Amino acid sequence: MSKNFYITTPIYYPSGKPHMGHAYSSIIADIFARFKRLEGYNVLFLTGTDEHGQKIQKEALKNNKSPREFCDEISETFRSLTKILNLTNDDFIRTTEPRHFNSVKEIWNRLIKSGDIYLDKYSGWYSVSDEAYYDESEIEDKNGKKISKISGSLVEWVEEESFFFKLSAFQKRLLDYYDKKQDFIHPKSRKNEVVSFVKKGLKDLSISRTSFSWGIPVPDNKKHVIYVWLDALTNYLSALNFPDLNDNKYKSFWPADVHIIGKDILRFHAVYWPAFLLAANLPLPKKIFGHGWILSDEKKMSKSLGNILDPIEIIKNYGIDQLRYYLIKEVSLGNDGSISLENLNNCINNDLANNYGNLCQRVFSFIKKNCNNKIPKASNFKEEDKKLINNIKENVPKLIDLINNQNLNEYIKIVVDFSFEANKYFNDSEPWTLKKKDQERMNTILNTIVEQIKNISILLNPIIPISSEKVLGSINISKKDITIENINKNILDNNKELKNLDILFKKVENDN
Ligand code: ME8
Ligand code: MG
Repeated sequence: MSKNFYITTPIYYPSGKPHMGHAYSSIIADIFARFKRLEGYNVLFLTGTDEHGQKIQKEALKNNKSPREFCDEISETFRSLTKILNLTNDDFIRTTEPRHFNSVKEIWNRLIKSGDIYLDKYSGWYSVSDEAYYDESEIEDKNGKKISKISGSLVEWVEEESFFFKLSAFQKRLLDYYDKKQDFIHPKSRKNEVVSFVKKGLKDLSISRTSFSWGIPVPDNKKHVIYVWLDALTNYLSALNFPDLNDNKYKSFWPADVHIIGKDILRFHAVYWPAFLLAANLPLPKKIFGHGWILSDEKKMSKSLGNILDPIEIIKNYGIDQLRYYLIKEVSLGNDGSISLENLNNCINNDLANNYGNLCQRVFSFIKKNCNNKIPKASNFKEEDKKLINNIKENVPKLIDLINNQNLNEYIKIVVDFSFEANKYFNDSEPWTLKKKDQERMNTILNTIVEQIKNISILLNPIIPISSEKVLGSINISKKDITIENINKNILDNNKELKNLDILFKKVENDN
């Protein structure tokens, strides 16, 4: 069985600065990437920017910049966000890079060769903001303007010569594929959406434009640039050095294990992308996971509504682990979810400061005071000790399963419960009463609870890596020993002194 794992985020439009929605997708993907590494997988985690098309060209013009100059600048803010979010992406792809041009041209040529491309004329609605074509049935009038019913963005009438992809010919093959690979589209509700869309019948798709020039030229017809979505989706292959099918990266990582995306771009990933790949005679990705939207005051965060929470601002004020934890704990991954500063504060105080943070701090300072600052050895485990420890060990397969099914909310709930349990165990067993009475028992209790802290910290590592590594570092567990396998192993060092642990999570006060 191969131990490789390939995970991607959408490549974002560098049309404006990154916002919480972008941060959300990237953090989710990073958590899965980190977890798979802890499990021993060889992970490739890709993110990047989607730089061609009319939307970017227009935005550059508005800013009095050449598209290239404009993209260089804003792409850089996305790249620096990967650092701010503490992402472990292995690569950052820009669609303006030569490696990507080669791969898109190869895809185009493959579609020509398979006979799935023809030249005609497109006339219909187009949304520059979504870079999407819409049917008459998908648009509506609003204050005298035509907008997409799906996204609410403005559409304009387009009539131009265009190459078409024979998407209509793929309806049956796609439906068969969804049926055969029950795991392909997640969560279930998303899958149903896609299936009913495809069942309604597919029209051929315009895959080139002539009315602007910012894109990858169609091979052998410089009048046309390739439709930005055909261009963008191919990035997932470009990063593997496609078209070199003998390249190690391609061989190890294609097909991708999961494309993490927002539900707004499901159609492109679950319908167009597999159809392109079928036509190109390439394997299809194993899974498309479409998460919900981050809302603010129950509305989708948007510039015009002025309800954007700036991730960089929040990280500055609260810390990155705090934001990562909050987004995963409070937003149900497949669904839309509201976020607010008030909830963020409560979450930091209740879950992080009072629960996990407090557990580590009180146990370590107790050890410092009473045990020469070294983890005591256990002697006789009582039932209650074994129960506590085994509870985590026995749940490991289930936790792995939850991650493989992108069920982060259930995962985190279980891990937080472990932490509550450990706090309760510490309170109930009152080691402070045993110092004189029964030092052996006190030592066993402390050993048990440090083992719990170790295991909980490993499980929290993908979500709050900085804090987890601080805690594990203070009990002398180095980064390379942070693995899922070590949950079942006794790796505590009783001879080294604990390193000092500063306050992990500062409590925050609610203004109102
Ligand atoms: O669509 N809540 O780029 P994009 C949650 N370039 N996630 C959100 C969000 C919100 N309010 N807003 C954005 C594109 N996202 C294309 C992708 S991929 C081959 C090309 C996230 O900059 C979510 O993942 O508009 C969404 O799918 C993505 O950002 C769209 O980013
Ligand atoms: Mg968008």
